[in-house]
Amino acid sequence: MINRRKIIIFGGAVVLFILMTTFLYYSVFSTPHKYETYQLEKRNQTKHNSSEKDLFIINLPKDVNLVPVKPVGQITFNTMQNMQNSQCSATRGNLNPPRSFITKPENSPWPNFSPSTFSIETDFIQWKNNNSDYWNRISRGLDGEALNSEKLKMNEMGLTLNLHLKPKEGHLPIWLKTFKRRTPLDIVLDAVCRIDDISHTILYVTIDGGDFDQVVEELIKVKCVKVKIYFHPILSDLRNLGLDKRNLDTGLVLNSHYVYGLYLLTHKLDYPYVITLEDDLEPTPDFYRFHYSLYHFVFGKQASYYNSKKIFAIGAFSHGPIVDCISLAAKLSNDETHKCGNKAVHQLVEEDYFPGWGSGIPKESFLEYWGDWKSNRHIYDYGMSMLRSGENRYTLVPCSPRVRTVANAGINGQNSGRWDHYISQFAQWNEKPLNRIYYVDRRDGVVKADEKGKFLYNKLT
Ligand SMILES: *[C@@H]1O[C@H](CO)[C@@H](O)[C@H](O)[C@H]1NC(C)=O
Ligand SMILES: *[C@@H]1O[C@H](CO)[C@@H](O)[C@H](O)[C@H]1NC(C)=O
Ligand SMILES: *[C@@H]1O[C@H](CO)[C@@H](O)[C@H](O)[C@H]1NC(C)=O
Repeated sequence: MINRRKIIIFGGAVVLFILMTTFLYYSVFSTPHKYETYQLEKRNQTKHNSSEKDLFIINLPKDVNLVPVKPVGQITFNTMQNMQNSQCSATRGNLNPPRSFITKPENSPWPNFSPSTFSIETDFIQWKNNNSDYWNRISRGLDGEALNSEKLKMNEMGLTLNLHLKPKEGHLPIWLKTFKRRTPLDIVLDAVCRIDDISHTILYVTIDGGDFDQVVEELIKVKCVKVKIYFHPILSDLRNLGLDKRNLDTGLVLNSHYVYGLYLLTHKLDYPYVITLEDDLEPTPDFYRFHYSLYHFVFGKQASYYNSKKIFAIGAFSHGPIVDCISLAAKLSNDETHKCGNKAVHQLVEEDYFPGWGSGIPKESFLEYWGDWKSNRHIYDYGMSMLRSGENRYTLVPCSPRVRTVANAGINGQNSGRWDHYISQFAQWNEKPLNRIYYVDRRDGVVKADEKGKFLYNKLT
């Protein structure tokens, strides 16, 4: 039996974050590596070097349109410093040791994956209207095996919204994990429809648990993008994967939804990269372009990134020991001259950190994780960050966040007053994806400007 209460309690990104910060005791390697210390000192110097700062501002790409960013509320200097200090310790504490070995990407099969076919596409709204009695019976109050078997049936139908919309060839999917809640899902879906080029792609929604009537009611309101809906059949999945005897703890419940969605998109639908979203994460208008262009720069066939193998995911949230320890106070005070402030929409950092909120996960990284996760008892994003082998793989994170956590008084508790609420203001680009310029702070500090002009590296040495 699924422990429904557990799923409810642990069902969201905000809580995940809290879980992450409780992993402090895992942090055998929590003292910064020698190189990192060096890097921190280097940054500390350039922070106080006004001529370098001026140079940085002068070099801002001309085509960047910075929208006004306002602080959410009054916040004192002391509060900023305190938030920076505590968040810095938390993310440093979360620096789990990278693996000392490299696992081979694994293509091990998932027997009887649901759905078994993708050749059918059914108009969800019509189907639901035609079968309202059935729908009312299964969409609320059903649990356990009865629920699981209805999910398997519905998955075979290819339930789809906005069938008339034609996504672009070569689009990258956005995958939205949902669970039971109408709010803040409604807020998130409004933001999804404000994403530039959203009709170019497909929004894949996987629904965990039962009582999904409200989730579907909200999804049906979406008109801006083709939506494909699948139900996560946890009980049969665990049987098919030989994990049904395992204690159904939080890690397993959340991990199994995570691998279900990523397996679906990377293995069954063969996407090279999955843009992840959660039902309490509000994306910025440039969320899709951000991922689309960075995917092509870092992982695509014509990638011009200096070393793609160093990057195992692309984050959308400014998160990790470098940005937290060095620039959180600057973000909170909206210091627009800061190299890694909220307005630095072009600036990215290679972080030693897990790819959490709104990350883009390449197929290869998922393959490595997939080879590992059954024995890995960690929650997925934490487990993902263990894909680092040695010290040379990073999540590429933006200085200006591309998602914000929606404050909600419900299941996940309040985040207003917390640091991530204050820095969650959006900045925006005004140009087309492929003309973008991103600045990346690299760990090796090598000065390099890409000949094609696609990446310009900051001077760190
Ligand atoms: C950064 O600079 C400040 C003031 O110059 C100094 O007190 C602090 O120790 C420095 N931190 C590091 C990591 O070098
Ligand atoms: C400050 O920046 C200038 C210009 O980039 C550089 O020449 C100088 O060495 C820097 N000073 C320090 C202390 O880093
Ligand atoms: C719903 O019912 C109508 C009328 O019987 C039919 O034309 C249509 O194909 C049905 N659609 C679905 C998706 O069941």
